[in-house]
Amino acid sequence: MIPEVDNDHYIVQVADESHLNLAQTICKEMEESAKARGTGIAKRSPLYLMEKMLEGKAIVATTDTGEWVGFCYIETWEHGKFVANSGLIVHPDHRKSGIATRIKAEAFKLSRTKYPDAKIIGLTTSLAVMKINSDLGYEPVTFSELPADDAFWKGCSSCVNYDILTRTNRKHCLCTGMLYNPEQQKKQEKSEKWNFLKESKLYERWMRIKQRILLRFRERPRVRKPERELEAVG
Ligand SMILES: CC(C)(COP(=O)(O)OP(=O)(O)OC[C@H]1O[C@@H](n2cnc3c(N)ncnc32)[C@H](O)[C@@H]1OP(=O)(O)O)[C@@H](O)C(=O)NCCC(=O)NCCS
Repeated sequence: MIPEVDNDHYIVQVADESHLNLAQTICKEMEESAKARGTGIAKRSPLYLMEKMLEGKAIVATTDTGEWVGFCYIETWEHGKFVANSGLIVHPDHRKSGIATRIKAEAFKLSRTKYPDAKIIGLTTSLAVMKINSDLGYEPVTFSELPADDAFWKGCSSCVNYDILTRTNRKHCLCTGMLYNPEQQKKQEKSEKWNFLKESKLYERWMRIKQRILLRFRERPRVRKPERELEAVG
């Protein structure tokens, strides 16, 4: 595949064996960034990221001199019925320059090409990711519309907020579930789509209310476990 080079000198492309040497650095940044945000962390090994690169299921952004800028990969659930774009991370020096938007757009394209009938899903607390997702056609959904498969939810098990998810029988948590439904998109093409910008203030309020309610019943302050974050499928 020909890498896409923009006039800002970032290259965003499907990762391959030439990117294997970046896996360790990317993993380290995922860890650091989760610590900085005070969330749990997705314990993804460099080997797992390498596997994704070799399978053609990862998107990497680099500078034109080959320095790592951003990354994400795709995972499937329930035999390809659902695809998640996971592990989105942008190097702090390159944030707010539209890189995550470009990486997610490529991951979305890759997901649609490889799994055209799959529903594309995400779980996130990040407003930036919610905005990007909604521009791609995702809509917020209840957790019951996400995979029922225990393997999917196992990804949340070492998040600092996992107690909320179990306490509510997987009905609520601090993350928002989002879904792109290809079937529904066809029907919706002519009608008005959900507009994140129009609703974002409402969403910020909803998230604050959710946090107040869902954290109220926490028995004792939990020690942060730096292992796996709930935003794993963002
Ligand atoms: C979240 C993250 C991936 C965003 O990367 P980025 O390259 O800075 O994002 P972009 O520049 O493409 O911005 C996307 C949109 O979100 C907005 N945005 C970016 N950061 C934001 C923030 N902290 N709060 C609210 N909006 C934000 C941007 O303004 C942009 O909107 P616009 O298109 O209207 O201008 C990056 O901050 C990051 O790596 N964070 C740590 C890891 C993480 O949280 N991953 C997400 C897991 S679900």
